[in-house]
Amino acid sequence: MSILIKNIKELIQVREPGIRMVAGEHMKVLPKIDNAYIFIDHDTIVDFGLMENASGLTADTEIDAMGSVVLPCWCDSHTHTVYAGNRIDEFVDRLNGLTYQEIAAKGGGILNSAKKLESTKEDQLYQEAVARIKNLMALGTGAIEIKSGYGLTTDSELKMLRVIKRIKRDLSLKVIPTFLGAHAVPEAYADNKNAYVDLIIKDMMPAIQKDRLAKYIDVFCEKGYFGLEATDSILEAAKTFGLIPKIHVNQFNAFGGVALAVKHNALSVDHLEELLPEDIEALKGSRTIPVALPGCSLFLDIPYTPGRELIDSGLPLALASDFNPGSAPSGNMNLIVSLACIKMKLTPEEAINAATLNGAYAMGIEQQYGSITRGKRANIIISKAVSSYYELPYSFGSNLIDKVMINGEFIKKPQDNS
Ligand code: NIG
Ligand code: FE
Repeated sequence: MSILIKNIKELIQVREPGIRMVAGEHMKVLPKIDNAYIFIDHDTIVDFGLMENASGLTADTEIDAMGSVVLPCWCDSHTHTVYAGNRIDEFVDRLNGLTYQEIAAKGGGILNSAKKLESTKEDQLYQEAVARIKNLMALGTGAIEIKSGYGLTTDSELKMLRVIKRIKRDLSLKVIPTFLGAHAVPEAYADNKNAYVDLIIKDMMPAIQKDRLAKYIDVFCEKGYFGLEATDSILEAAKTFGLIPKIHVNQFNAFGGVALAVKHNALSVDHLEELLPEDIEALKGSRTIPVALPGCSLFLDIPYTPGRELIDSGLPLALASDFNPGSAPSGNMNLIVSLACIKMKLTPEEAINAATLNGAYAMGIEQQYGSITRGKRANIIISKAVSSYYELPYSFGSNLIDKVMINGEFIKKPQDNS
């Protein structure tokens, strides 16, 4: 089954094979072809170029994309999309003056989600997550990382990871599973955090490895959660189990977590709303990519990650949604791209690079996703008629997506998102 999309106003993020991510000055460049075509065979991008060179091409299906921008699907490298229920009451508590930390201290926050998850059947959890993810696919997300971390017991963490595995099997988007047992210290271990770290290392990790349920390991490295010593022990042990670190760090406090992540050769460091000069120095020359989560900054009304500073220091940057019930209850990557431009002062080129190719790198899937490249997966967004790709971040909150193709197939819209 072949598909030819013709008369594309702007085909953006076109790359030659082999480029893994873009950093610093290179993030300002978003290669594009005006008046273009793209040719797809089954699940693969086979060819693209100028319309004037498409005259001899025919396909099983031909689509006229007149007036549209075509770009690769969003690659959302940091989400907590599997959860039970919601935390709407905490949202209202915050509107009434409590902080995220105060809510957590009185048993809300992550522990509240863990309680809800414990009493939710695996099937129900799966159904809730699938409904959320189908909405995200209609909004252009073609690859997603999903973390555990609302289990906090071996049984419940495994339950979450099994749900993620099922989603990976059943849905057409790319799913990357991450184990986040170290998301919060459960009440039962409040006076003995080390025993919980032991449980993670000696009980959870072997069980996860046995059923190959996760590719990455995450830790919420933060005051009141897991400090440097606990994070170090968990990441050290993770090596034995072949789990690569991608960690939550510097959300509320900066105290050396970034350097620790780099020491462990982390693939990404995520949040960084608080950033010290030494954090930037630690990242230079490493393979670790910083990931900004502007949806969390908006929702919690906390500082935005200094993305400008990171890019101007020559570093790469990825953008992700952090979709979760407590600090970022939206997985809409279109909004994330707008926020990065409006609040973090990224250019449209930088924001789109950060949400596509660099997002793919932050999941270790940049060989197959994140750009319009011959041989990569056919994951593409076709916009409605727009004046240029600048309109994507400009028209924040609007849905400018006409069609989404994932793995070579147009997805059905689960609801009217217009
Ligand atoms: O990335 N910071 C830690 N984890 C999530 C929040 C999880 C929650 O509040 O449920 C985050 O913001
Ligand atoms: Fe998160």
